[in-house]
This record gives sequence, C-alpha cells and structure tokens, in this order.
Amino acid sequence: MADDEYLHDIVDYTDDNLDADDFEDIKYAVKLKDVSRVYKAGRIEIEALRNVNLEVKLGDFIVIAGHSGSGKTTLLNIIGSIDLSSSGRVHIMDVPIGDYDEAFRSSFRLNNTGFIFQSYNLISTLTAVENVLFPMQLSEKTPSKLRDEAMKLLERVEMEHRADHLPWQLSSGEQQRVAIARAMANDPPIILADEPTANLDGDSGAMVRDLLAELNSMGKAVIVMTHDEGIIQQAGIRRFKMDAGELHSDV
Ligand SMILES: Nc1ncnc2c1ncn2[C@@H]1O[C@H](COP(=O)(O)OP(=O)(O)O)[C@@H](O)[C@H]1O
Ligand SMILES: [Mg+2]
Repeated sequence: MADDEYLHDIVDYTDDNLDADDFEDIKYAVKLKDVSRVYKAGRIEIEALRNVNLEVKLGDFIVIAGHSGSGKTTLLNIIGSIDLSSSGRVHIMDVPIGDYDEAFRSSFRLNNTGFIFQSYNLISTLTAVENVLFPMQLSEKTPSKLRDEAMKLLERVEMEHRADHLPWQLSSGEQQRVAIARAMANDPPIILADEPTANLDGDSGAMVRDLLAELNSMGKAVIVMTHDEGIIQQAGIRRFKMDAGELHSDV
C-alpha cells in the first residue's frame, strides 16, 4: 500500500532504548486518513469521529478544542492505540497500528505515547515513584536502574521529595506533575493530553503548561485537547476544533 512505503523494517519501535537518531527517518508521528469511529450501543450508532484527517510531525504542538461530546477523547484514544478506528488508516510513528494485535499495540503504546488525563488517573495504591515506574514494566533494565530513572523524572517535575507519597497525600497540581513524569517514562516521542489543566488552579496550570512546552521543545509531538487559553494562545501552535466528530483547522 502506497501509504506504507516509508515504513522501516530495521527499527524496532517497541524497543525501550531508542534515542533521537532512531527517529530521524520518521515522516509522521501521527497520520490519520479518513478516520471514523462508530460506537454501537444496542441499536443506536454514535458517530464519534467522522473522516478525520490529521498529520503531525515530531516537534509539532497541536491543540484541539471542542464542546463536550465532540469526539476529543475518542480521537486521543485512537492516536494512543488504546482504541481502534472503525474505518480509515491510522499510522503512529509511520506504523499502521491497526494492523497489529493487542499484544504488539500495548508494548508499542508504552514506548511511543505518554498520556496525561484531566483527572490524573494515578493508581491510588501506588506511591508517586511507583506510578512513574508503572509504564516501565516491560523494560529489561534492572529494578535499581529503573528506580533511578523514575526519580530523575520526578526531579524534572520537582516532585522528587514526594516520591514515597500516595496520590491522596498530594494536591491536584502535584498529582498532575507526577502524572506528567509518568507520561515521560520510556521517553515516548508522542505526548497526548486530555484537558490536562481543567481541574487545576492558576499556578499548577502554569506549571503544566510549561512542562508541555518543554516536552515539545525536546522534539516530541505534543497533542493537547483543551479550552485553556493559556495553552491555545502559545506561539507556534497548530490549532484545531472538533465539532460533532469532525476535525477542522482553526487558523
Ligand atoms: N464507549 C462509548 N460507547 C458509546 N458512546 C461513546 C463511548 N465513548 C464516547 N461515546 C460517545 O461518543 C461521542 C464523543 O465522545 P468523547 O470522545 O468522549 O467526546 P469529548 O471528549 O469531546 O467530550 C459522545 O457522543 C459520547 O457520548
Ligand atoms: Mg473528553
């Protein structure tokens, strides 16, 4: 298929030791062609995405706004290989991810995408550092090396002093910073965020905005679903709107 001509056989994208050089030949971090997603609930069909087209390169910062129910989370789940499209082609890091089984997709997901949620989604029985370690479970590195890496990620979000605290012992902003450290585990080239500042106060929101900008400046593709003007108005961003499952560029 013509779409797949630039696929590379040599790089193993499920390898957790990839660095920037391995991504040099990547054409698109995300490429969606006529992607639709229909949910079937009994006899009712809900068209959550309608013929969505999107091309995102490494280093791009994409912001998508849209009313509740317009399909933002559905779109992020498809880009994050959590969900499959009903029709259309989905390439993530040039890999036609829908052609693979769930076992491949789950390890691909862990190494290629970091997810940040509106309500943090930390595992309540795990400490901050254990939450950051969670996506590293397929790594072959030693436990002490992994712990060092997790602690470094907590330092990046200024949460290393709270490493052994449980989520309920942390404020909203602190939980989201831990969640961002978790999203950076395995150094994924793509960061996906679903209304990441919606539940945060001004200062915490500003810190999350800065961290997203920093991840983007490291060369990652950052895709954020948000209404936060502080994110939307940043320079160098590509803006879109979701409306009833359709994606429109908003320039
Ligand atoms: N698992 C599901 N089953 C059925 N309908 C769903 C499911 N998830 C989402 N939907 C529907 O799909 C549409 C888009 O939802 P969603 O992607 O969550 O929108 P947003 O994130 O923009 O609020 C909505 O009409 C929603 O009710
Ligand atoms: Mg949503």
